[in-house]
Amino acid sequence: SVRSGRSVGPGEALGVAMSVFVTRRIPAEGLRVLSQASGCRVQQWDSEEPVPRAELLSRVAGTRGLLCLLSDRIDREVLDAAGGCGTPFPLPPSSGPSAQARQRCSCLTGPGLKVISTMSVGFDHLALDEIKKRGIRVGYTPDVLTDATAELSVALLLSACRRLPEAAEQVKSGGWTTWKPLWMCGYGLSDSTVGIIGLGRIGQAVARRLRPFGVKKFLYTGSGPKPESAAEFGAEFVPLTRLAEESDFVVVTCALTPATQGMCNKDFFSRMKKTSVFVNTSRGAVVNQEDLYDALSQGQIAAAGLDVTTPEPLPTDHPLLSLKNCVILPHIGSATYATRSTMAVLAANNLLAGLRGEPMPHELKL
Ligand code: NDP
Ligand code: DGY
Repeated sequence: SVRSGRSVGPGEALGVAMSVFVTRRIPAEGLRVLSQASGCRVQQWDSEEPVPRAELLSRVAGTRGLLCLLSDRIDREVLDAAGGCGTPFPLPPSSGPSAQARQRCSCLTGPGLKVISTMSVGFDHLALDEIKKRGIRVGYTPDVLTDATAELSVALLLSACRRLPEAAEQVKSGGWTTWKPLWMCGYGLSDSTVGIIGLGRIGQAVARRLRPFGVKKFLYTGSGPKPESAAEFGAEFVPLTRLAEESDFVVVTCALTPATQGMCNKDFFSRMKKTSVFVNTSRGAVVNQEDLYDALSQGQIAAAGLDVTTPEPLPTDHPLLSLKNCVILPHIGSATYATRSTMAVLAANNLLAGLRGEPMPHELKL
């Protein structure tokens, strides 16, 4: 049930020196770090459900630190609502007076929002240009979720290529009548070529886990070759088109950026083999979902596994959900108890360090 936020912590009576707003119920270990920090006044949207936008806008007003999630869109509207220092932001000289006025930080009284700490490694939900202009520091949670997300990526790949949800359903529905040589066959990793889009922390951890399955060759693509990361797998840097054409499995583990948005589209899927399997654990918007639906339903590719979609949650009547060869999970890549706890603690420590003017354990360089 959605309850309005509450204040916790011994710093409550100490004023706003370190007033923070936490946009969701998070693992207790993370909240404890904040509530036990000297001088920290914690407000929280204490619910499993997202804070309503209007509530977010009103709660950030006058707060110094914001601990948010990937589902909170932190844009100009939120930053304006949070207040600031009244400093004019640089604009091209051609901008008119009203644009100049809008570019002024809206806070008239306080020093405003100083730190945003997101409990995620992805930061595509943050308007970084606006944040940078306002001199706000950003913390995030790389590394600590790499293993969990890579593990889930492998689980999803195996679920899609070996048709696990479909097969399990057959057991329940009575479709399992006998052992049949041609029934419920899929594709295995042995002797395969795996293409990784984005050989970053998670991409490498996926490759490391897939290699023992007997993968013959790793391909990867990104903004440029990364020989040091690729050496461990003997992975070859190739253009996206070649990765699509030659891979038996495509795993998407890149960040969502203007360059990667919609990157897996009609042209991409049309180059993939009919026997290939597509897996996405990055962000839904990297994929053109209409094009993916066409590719799956017309047999252009064999199967897909998605941990991320557009939108999230995916409406229950979405066409992709009608396909047997598409396994869709509700964005659970980092969802182990230990990982989420560690993420929450890291996000809290990032926030506190930022508010104290100290180096953050993991600060995003803007
Ligand atoms: P990294 O920054 O380590 O890796 C991101 C990778 O994206 C880099 O290797 C980068 O390659 C690549 N990339 C950037 N631009 C392009 C491009 N144009 N084409 C192909 N690749 C590109 O981040 P992580 O591995 O830690 O996380 C990756 C993403 O995974 C996160 O941003 C998040 O969106 C998602 N994620 C999802 C989770 C889930 O629950 N499903 C959990 C955790 C993360 P290069 O270095 O060459 O630029
Ligand atoms: C992230 O951290 O970006 C994931 O999507 C959730 O853990």
